[in-house]
Amino acid sequence: MNRTRYFFIGLLLCSCQANESNKEVQTGNIEPMILDDPHSFAKPSESLVTHLDWRATVDFETKIISGTAILSLQNSKDASQLILDTKLLSIESVIIGGEPVEYNLGEIDEYLGQSLSIKITPQTKNVSVHYKTSKDAEALQWLAPSQTADKESPFLFTQSQAILARSWVPIQDSPGIRFTYNAEVTVPQGLLALMSAENPATVNESGVYNFEMKQPIPAYLLALSVGQLEFKSLGVRSGVHAEPTVINAAAYEFEDLEVMIKAAENLYGPYRWDRYDLLVLPPSFPFGGMENPRLTFATPTILAGDRSLVSLVAHELAHSWSGNLVTNANWNDFWLNEGFTVYFEQRIMETLYGRDYSEMLAALSVQGLKEDIETMIKAGNSNDTKLKLDLENRNPDDGVTSIAYDKGYLLLRNIEEKLGREKFDAFLKGYFEKNAFRVMTTEQFIVQFEQYAHEEDFLFDLNQWIYDPGIPKGASLPISDRFLQIDNALQAFMNGAKAGTLEVKDWTSHEWLHFVRAIPANMSFKQMEDLDNAFSFTVSGNSEVLTGWLIQAVSHQYTPAYERLEKFLINTGRRKFLSPIYGELIKSESGKEMALNIYKKARPNYHFVATNTLDEMLGFQSN
Ligand code: BES
Ligand code: ZN
Repeated sequence: MNRTRYFFIGLLLCSCQANESNKEVQTGNIEPMILDDPHSFAKPSESLVTHLDWRATVDFETKIISGTAILSLQNSKDASQLILDTKLLSIESVIIGGEPVEYNLGEIDEYLGQSLSIKITPQTKNVSVHYKTSKDAEALQWLAPSQTADKESPFLFTQSQAILARSWVPIQDSPGIRFTYNAEVTVPQGLLALMSAENPATVNESGVYNFEMKQPIPAYLLALSVGQLEFKSLGVRSGVHAEPTVINAAAYEFEDLEVMIKAAENLYGPYRWDRYDLLVLPPSFPFGGMENPRLTFATPTILAGDRSLVSLVAHELAHSWSGNLVTNANWNDFWLNEGFTVYFEQRIMETLYGRDYSEMLAALSVQGLKEDIETMIKAGNSNDTKLKLDLENRNPDDGVTSIAYDKGYLLLRNIEEKLGREKFDAFLKGYFEKNAFRVMTTEQFIVQFEQYAHEEDFLFDLNQWIYDPGIPKGASLPISDRFLQIDNALQAFMNGAKAGTLEVKDWTSHEWLHFVRAIPANMSFKQMEDLDNAFSFTVSGNSEVLTGWLIQAVSHQYTPAYERLEKFLINTGRRKFLSPIYGELIKSESGKEMALNIYKKARPNYHFVATNTLDEMLGFQSN
């Protein structure tokens, strides 16, 4: 089956209700843009969804959302059908003008789900789809009270990126298609519902909540969360939601949020989404963070107690520009979302905490990149080390690697170094302004950059970076002076110095992370023990350092850490931590057995996104 679809989206996509100040967008480039999304059935050139009015009831007993999606359409002159994406939805009826109409659910595709084709005429303005989600809806995770921090109430959250929105809303689920939305959501009394929209923020008696998202967004940014939640304000336009027992720790950790937003605006222009709030989820949230507009979803594993992991917030905040404002056209262009965001994140961190701090982040990023490229090339996947990906007929999740993030970042950093920061910042500011609320392809980025470069008489081989595998020869790589000192300390330790004599007083968690990652294969059990006694790695409250240490514990068979390892794997659902730990375990036969034993206990706590990866990695068959 050929999943490639071609369609064009002209100015209609940004006839959006964007800010008044957004003139450039509305009157700017009116060339229709040819788009091609291999991960959506939609044919927006025939009928395009421009607004979603969503009514839904959330039932924790049956783990089902019953909903009606009322979709506003913009049709071509000869439109005869509207095509939506769905996955495991049971469609009850489709209504146009008060009457049920014919519809057809297409063949099931493993990744894409099913197309829902609805007969319309060019005059059809609205279509209502009545439906229920499935127990196995991939975006949804229903948590029992015991799986939350407070252990008192059940909890629900969604994760729509990349193509899971279709498992809870019948919609045109392509990043190139933007719509505004409003919603009325009914939940059990006492629980609070939040969405990626203007939020009520306080619990009401009726359990009915109303939402509005005035800026047009792609479907992967649709988000809902329901649970027992409290709110603390952090500034005039920011705050944090979390479970009652977590709220104070969360408010402490994110105290710099308002400063971060200002730093971001100073770099690349105004924040266009009014408010920026955070939601700290229960530990099974499969990602570090998810940039749902107005309401970033975050893992509780960043609550280290010392604000050492807040670069993740800088990252999700940066997506308010790179990703949410200027959006990758499809998942083959994912680096435009993530590479730009890592670059932007580091610039925010540099503003707040200084260059030598952000250079540690840069060094960690490139260190991970080099290791991943090596592994991918060994596994015969060198095509996946190109920035521009080819994910047709594949799960877009395959593109979530350090290539998009860290090679993307490294490219922008290399441009900055050659062009000069001032000029590159001017380009980026213009890029976000000019393309706000629009779609970006890799090719369009190249055109826009080359136009700018031409005016500046600047030469740079973008093609090699984007279309060739690996890191281009001659690329400039970051070196962190602070890490050089860590390497020296580790060397001294390997040469016989006792752990207690190392000069570690001013080390930040990034230095510790670098240290544990650099532990050589030939370190003895006794030396591991000495380090652990001196620096308490096994009981570290910093999830990054702990993960680095647990991986070393497995590869060095440092058994005193195994109890913590099991606990951590059972209580944490963040895929970025789970994959490398399980991955290290399965390198040996005994480790594999241990991995499977733990996995059986832990799996009910994981979101689909994580089990989907881990089932395959561990050869686990769910019945
Ligand atoms: N948008 C991503 C998460 C994502 C990517 C979800 C692709 C589904 C598909 C988010 O912004 C992200 O990158 N999160 C990282 C944070 C980090 C790089 C600071 C994560 O979760 O680890
Ligand atoms: Zn990201």
